[in-house]
Amino acid sequence: MTVTRRGVLIGGAATTAVAAIPADPPGGGAAAARPPQMPVRLEVNGERRELMMDTRTTLLDALREHLHLTGTKKGCDHGQCGACTVLVEGRRINSCLSLAVQHEGDRITTIEGLGTPERLHPMQAAFVKHDGFQCGYCTPGQICSAVAVLDEIARGVPSHVQADVVAPPRPSNAELRERMSGNICRCGAYSNIADAISEVAGVPS
Ligand code: FES
Ligand code: FES
Repeated sequence: MTVTRRGVLIGGAATTAVAAIPADPPGGGAAAARPPQMPVRLEVNGERRELMMDTRTTLLDALREHLHLTGTKKGCDHGQCGACTVLVEGRRINSCLSLAVQHEGDRITTIEGLGTPERLHPMQAAFVKHDGFQCGYCTPGQICSAVAVLDEIARGVPSHVQADVVAPPRPSNAELRERMSGNICRCGAYSNIADAISEVAGVPS
């Protein structure tokens, strides 16, 4: 048989293609490749919820996609806009940066749990009164954050705008704006948002 240069090249390409096909993972093909799942129990807006989660699921996706609480918004999904802010044990967090399975047993409050249409939380009522939104996309995160900010001030958590970080913080326009700086509003409703929060904090805006 005559071995040609063309035949050698075709044969070599076929061998390479076969070698590139990955072998089945040991112990059972597609089933073995399933992502790890874990049970997680959360208390969301006063209700106990039990979920079986892919361990990579963020708290934000668990709330929106699994519990269908779509009031919490996904903006950047990178911890930069604050649209996904919720309260965990009363403290605010960016839920896009936290895995659901890290919150076993935690008490979580979303915008749906702060008030009801008939009985708004005072911060929700102030946002309505001062027109603290345009499109409303950032609003649930702004309101959850604002509620937490007033609690932080009451607990004496210092901020960068205090002259003396050891002294108890006092609410002021500058203080509120600094503490709300992680919540971005693409519509630029900042002055009305500041008015709303200032009213609840009892300071001039
Ligand atoms: Fe979480 Fe932007 S969606 S910070
Ligand atoms: Fe539109 Fe804030 S109201 S992003």
